[in-house]
Amino acid sequence: MLDQATNVRRIVSEIRHETFSRHSSGGGSPRVLAVTGGKGGVGKTLTTANLGLCLARLGMRTLLIDGDFGLANLDVVLNLRPEHTLDDVLAGEKDLKDIILDGPEGLRVVPSASGLLKVSELGRVQKLLLLDQIESLEEEFDVVIIDTPAGISKNVQYWTSAAAEVVVVTTPEPAAMADAYATMKVLSQMMREERFRLVVNMVRNDEEGLKVYDRIATLADEFLSVKVEYLGCVVFDDAVRNAARERVSYVQRFPFSAAARGMRAIAAQLASEKDSVSPKGSMQFFWKRMVTAGQQDVFA
Ligand SMILES: Nc1ncnc2c1ncn2[C@@H]1O[C@H](COP(=O)(O)OP(=O)(O)OP(=O)(O)O)[C@@H](O)[C@H]1O
Ligand SMILES: [Mg+2]
Repeated sequence: MLDQATNVRRIVSEIRHETFSRHSSGGGSPRVLAVTGGKGGVGKTLTTANLGLCLARLGMRTLLIDGDFGLANLDVVLNLRPEHTLDDVLAGEKDLKDIILDGPEGLRVVPSASGLLKVSELGRVQKLLLLDQIESLEEEFDVVIIDTPAGISKNVQYWTSAAAEVVVVTTPEPAAMADAYATMKVLSQMMREERFRLVVNMVRNDEEGLKVYDRIATLADEFLSVKVEYLGCVVFDDAVRNAARERVSYVQRFPFSAAARGMRAIAAQLASEKDSVSPKGSMQFFWKRMVTAGQQDVFA
């Protein structure tokens, strides 16, 4: 019987082989973004859902993945009722493509189940195979957005490693700013992340959003030597809470609200960059880097 280490080596080598051949065949790959932020309740899930909807409306084929295995709620926010979740994929009972839900506006969603599994508790092989399954969908989507849980657990490190772009969500609250900074610190030191995009949620006005960005970007540049780019801000708006209560996105339910305007501007900013080449590259490139460079092992 093969031991675990031999198994893992075989799977990594198969994936590497496939990755290199796909990479060199030049097939289209989606932009993969992870939404993170450190502090709980800053608006990561609502940003994922509403940003996804705005991008879908702009004509981008958009997939959202609920990466919060502990408190999965992307399906709740979008009023979807999953029959199967990532747990079934991880148990080997379903393929990823079989559990994808159709959301509003052509948006597609990979749901997670609450409270059953944590990525940090998954085996190495499961983690590798999950990413491989996500990669296998690459030609069907222009953009993939992964909602991650609060904190900077192995789970968050795993998802941010899988994504070429890391979107950090914060609010003007000092504790949220400190957590956003700490997240960047951990990801830059442990995962060699060099570039972050910032969304400032629950601001009073645009000026406050810019001030928060300025402060975080200056500190990150000075002490972490990482680049933080501003994606925009979303005001504190009752429309957000009211829509959440009705289990619909605020960009759909209250399209003329100040929050929806802010989110549309963020989506427009991202969409306008769609031809830009990320220095970290696509997921394929991530794989290449991961298996060859021996970076921090998020699969352990
Ligand atoms: N711009 C906003 N204006 C007003 N309220 C907001 C705004 N953004 C988020 N909220 C409120 O904050 C709550 C938490 O949002 P959300 O679930 O997206 O946060 P989260 O960062 O994903 O939380 P967790 O860390 O628990 O995953 C929402 O239910 C909503 O009521
Ligand atoms: Mg959340």
